[in-house]
Amino acid sequence: MSDASVAERPAGQAPAGAPAFFSCRDLHAYYGESYIVQGVSFELNEGEILALLGRNGAGKTSTLRTIARLASPELRHGEIWLAGEALHEMPAWRAARAGVGLVPEDRRIIGGLSVEENLQLARIEEPLGWSLERLYDHFPRLAERRRQEAVTLSGGEQQMLAIARALARDIRLLLLDEPYEGLAPVIVEEIERILREVRKAGFTTIIVEQNAVAALNLSDRAIILDMGEVVFDGTAREVIANEALRHQYLAI
Ligand SMILES: Nc1ncnc2c1ncn2[C@@H]1O[C@H](COP(=O)(O)OP(=O)(O)OP(=O)(O)O)[C@@H](O)[C@H]1O
Ligand SMILES: [Mg+2]
Repeated sequence: MSDASVAERPAGQAPAGAPAFFSCRDLHAYYGESYIVQGVSFELNEGEILALLGRNGAGKTSTLRTIARLASPELRHGEIWLAGEALHEMPAWRAARAGVGLVPEDRRIIGGLSVEENLQLARIEEPLGWSLERLYDHFPRLAERRRQEAVTLSGGEQQMLAIARALARDIRLLLLDEPYEGLAPVIVEEIERILREVRKAGFTTIIVEQNAVAALNLSDRAIILDMGEVVFDGTAREVIANEALRHQYLAI
């Protein structure tokens, strides 16, 4: 891997003593009696992009679901703070209102509605997100297909719609679970371009991706999970430079 494509923007620095924009403190989460998220803690400054990496089953999706306050897995201990709000005390719908936008692996777009109806639906409750016009500027493929039923979109277009729908809401934290999964390289490149624009717009983002190289190229920070625990917390550059770490936990 070369350093050339690493994001140039330095990680944002919060003023000394100020609470981080986003923080997880000692999260412990379970599926029934299965103990999955085992004491995860990390912080993010506003505008930072974090690559959350690790092998299959390491607990990445579970960590995102815990942050989004979905009922499963069950958070039994720990705190989650976003812009001064205590997400750990909220059900999922309130966490969404507080600005958490999860783009899940299965995308969850509404197949029977058109592209535009999917976007409009997202904007009804929170009209402060990106306007349709702005979304279509950034997602020209969606503009061309605005009247098309979402179920008929290609996998890559469905992923674009899922991301666009998150941006249509007034979000403060974007959570992306494997946005490149199952997509052809040319579509991955197109989504990478879009995510670079999202990054410029200053969204604080956590990206989970099997394609660790692509995720690191987009990110300031990196966390590696192994068996539900944080085994590395540093900069994306450090992961790129550390071959032993990459071999041990990422198989790259
Ligand atoms: N609903 C569930 N009930 C019970 N166990 C689950 C459930 N969902 C996930 N797990 C288990 O939790 C562990 C972590 O899963 P998780 O999906 O968070 O991993 P991941 O890092 O996202 O993996 P992948 O890279 O394969 O997506 C795995 O051992 C998985 O089998
Ligand atoms: Mg997963």
